[in-house]
Amino acid sequence: MKTIIEPFRIKSIEPIRMTTREEREQYIIDAWYNLFTLRSNDVLIDLLTDSGTSSMSARQWGAIMEGDESYAGSPSFYRFEAAVKKLMPFKYLIPTHQGRAAESILFTVVTDSSHSIPNNTHFDTTRANVEAQGAEAVDLVIPEGKQPDLEHPFKGNMDIEALERFIQERGADHIPICMLTVTNNSGGGQPVAMENIRQTREVCDRYGIPLFIDACRFAENAWFIKLREPGYEDKPVVEIVREMFSYADGCTMSAKKDGLANSGGWLAMNNEDWAVECRNRLILTEGFSTYGGLTGRDLEAIAVGLEEVVQEDYLHYRIASTQYVARHLAEAGVPIMKPAGGHAVYIDARQFLPHIPPLQYPGQSLAVELYKHGGIRGCEIGTVMFGKKPDGTEAPAAMDLVRLAIPRRVYTQSQMDYLIEVVGEVYEKRHELRGMKFIREPKALRHFTGRFDYVDA
Ligand SMILES: Cc1ncc(COP(=O)(O)O)c(C=O)c1O
Repeated sequence: MKTIIEPFRIKSIEPIRMTTREEREQYIIDAWYNLFTLRSNDVLIDLLTDSGTSSMSARQWGAIMEGDESYAGSPSFYRFEAAVKKLMPFKYLIPTHQGRAAESILFTVVTDSSHSIPNNTHFDTTRANVEAQGAEAVDLVIPEGKQPDLEHPFKGNMDIEALERFIQERGADHIPICMLTVTNNSGGGQPVAMENIRQTREVCDRYGIPLFIDACRFAENAWFIKLREPGYEDKPVVEIVREMFSYADGCTMSAKKDGLANSGGWLAMNNEDWAVECRNRLILTEGFSTYGGLTGRDLEAIAVGLEEVVQEDYLHYRIASTQYVARHLAEAGVPIMKPAGGHAVYIDARQFLPHIPPLQYPGQSLAVELYKHGGIRGCEIGTVMFGKKPDGTEAPAAMDLVRLAIPRRVYTQSQMDYLIEVVGEVYEKRHELRGMKFIREPKALRHFTGRFDYVDA
């Protein structure tokens, strides 16, 4: 059959509160034109993030009732540990309340201000946690990954030659770990090929540098490998996942993505000395080593989520629905990042709004208009998010994108059709959109709490 159906039925629903354009215009003024400041009740289709927004399955809700809330040694931890190790067989597993807590613990333990961390592209919290140690976060994605229009099966790949050059110039002593983000969220949700993971590992081995994977969307990455990389078409996804992690020395993970859970994360590694220090840090900041920042019921939900996320019917539907939105937008002439990523469709706001210069935040202007026009909440990933440098100067980011992140198992196809219609209508009147400026700007992660207005307001 040509139609790929959602491989589930809906058992429980959440009503959406309908709003008018006039109401939304007021809500966004009240929110200082920052989509993060809106109340979610005032949003029709919430594509701000795919993080923590998944629908849980009946099996996950059932498992939640099995959660054992013992302070130490809970059976829920051991079920969680078994589920993680089936996919990512690292020796030491440290549960955290979400991904950034794992990052914070890792970088506090392994980095100092003389260090640099190479990555294909750091996610914003990863970069902020590296920089919080005074260290430098360096993005080395392949050049194709920075060209939104270009079709390439693995645009998240690390630029292997650039990585080796960087290590030689900087000196391996100043690089405590190398990272690879799968899929590459800030670079458009693009996958990393198995061959590229292997080559990154080889370079790291030559210089004695451990490789850590930012594993948030590991299952979606594995599905792309199965679809696009020769030799993997007949391999079960679980085997592909295990091979991906066999090349790494550790990982950070947010279970809010491919854990299919609303909360949770972990840090895993093979290095015992680091693990001991990370556990001490965990106890100081998150909780005891068999729960981290999580309840027993969270651990249960993640354990079941990890089984469900590698089911091939699920991954087939998941990636097909993202591609469906991307295909229809591209057919309407909307400039999008090609090919579509795993968890999101990225609109190229710089091309959508060529009359708005990058330092007037075309992505923010577009995201605001999508909300006003159709109640869609997306997220700017561009100069607002990445333009501010640690020394206080500002420069255009490599790209100005608006990310429409699709929550897992949440929206139906007719809701995606509505989204396509809203974006198409905003595209028709794109010349009317205006640039924006900050009127209040926090020092770090300014996109979360900054306040905006139109430049000519
Ligand atoms: C690639 C990547 N790494 C790390 C994180 C941080 O995870 P968390 O939001 O659970 O702190 C995210 C969150 O979106 C992400 O996409």
